Amino acid sequence: MRRFFRPTWAEIDLGALVGNLRHLRKRVGPRMKLMFVVKANAYGHDAVLCALAAQKARAADWLGVSSVEEGLALRTSGVNLPVLVLGSLYPFESVLAAAAHDLTPIVASLESARRVAEAAARLRRVINIHVKVDTGMGRIGVRPDAAPALVRELSALRGIRVQGLYTHMAKAEDDRAFTERQLSAFRKVLKALDKEGLRPPLVHAANSAAALRHPGARFDLVRPGLAAYGLYEGFSPVLTLKSKIIYTKTVGKGTPVSYGAAWRAKRASRIATLPIGYGDGYPRALSNKASVLVGGKRCPVVGRVTMDQVMIDVTDVPRARVGDDAVLIGSQDGASIPAAELARACGTISYETVTALSGRVPRVGVGA
Ligand SMILES: Cc1ncc(COP(=O)(O)O)c(C=O)c1O
Repeated sequence: MRRFFRPTWAEIDLGALVGNLRHLRKRVGPRMKLMFVVKANAYGHDAVLCALAAQKARAADWLGVSSVEEGLALRTSGVNLPVLVLGSLYPFESVLAAAAHDLTPIVASLESARRVAEAAARLRRVINIHVKVDTGMGRIGVRPDAAPALVRELSALRGIRVQGLYTHMAKAEDDRAFTERQLSAFRKVLKALDKEGLRPPLVHAANSAAALRHPGARFDLVRPGLAAYGLYEGFSPVLTLKSKIIYTKTVGKGTPVSYGAAWRAKRASRIATLPIGYGDGYPRALSNKASVLVGGKRCPVVGRVTMDQVMIDVTDVPRARVGDDAVLIGSQDGASIPAAELARACGTISYETVTALSGRVPRVGVGA
């Protein structure tokens, strides 16, 4: 059965995704474990599609999600790789749900560890946890000076096994000194644990930038998101946002287009309409700013992006017709519009641009 009629969709190149994960593994060394971060619906790329592709290709050892809900969606779709829930679990009942579905929680306080121990007692099994240390991110995590004592206390709790110890880098992409300070605080914790024979088997710290730019941040496992999706230099973009021209018309000089008449034709122009708008996560902030590829040529977005439609000027692509493909993010006939370009135009980062694509846009796996 046809999955959708409205011709707006995102192609997810699963071959490129697996290629990126393999390339990353080559860069960090074959013995390094790799946790593929698929939180927030795999940064908008479809978590189930991406996780299953990585699992099938044996391209990842672990998956990282942000909530129990995200983990459950993977488990109910046939994903059986180990999954770390990177977000702190609250309310504590969610610990039971996590454990029941073999999702590994993180712990950053004795209080949450006790809840995990209670869940372990109820389920009559041992629950693996990873302890989070805050070395400079300031989000969640035990302070480095308190971390060894916490790990010591956790190691004494029945039903808990401290399988991992980790931290998260705040400026790995552009601040070597800051990253070194974070790593040195983390290493101090490890040294103290080593002395007591309490170093957990999986130590990790590196997102994409840290894994690629700071070899000292790799430890036992790296946690890439951005590079896996090809949104990091040297990796292949995985997502192409596509639509089709559904209407064209020729307008005279001075004709306004879209809400607020914020654009007027400077010459006789051919205007094409695409069935995509901010309801799909194509930002309204791109009004009069972005371009869209048609026939391999950049066509400017004209007027305000509306909820469901956007207009582009195809005057310079005389062959453009109803039914032609339009690429809003990605490549077409040698031209490309990277997610980073749209992000810059909106004053944000490519993480947000791809993650913002809404559930209304079907994700279609290609290139598997
Ligand atoms: C804890 C944690 N690890 C790893 C990542 C992956 O980061 P990146 O996409 O920069 O590789 C994230 C993403 O924000 C994260 O929150």
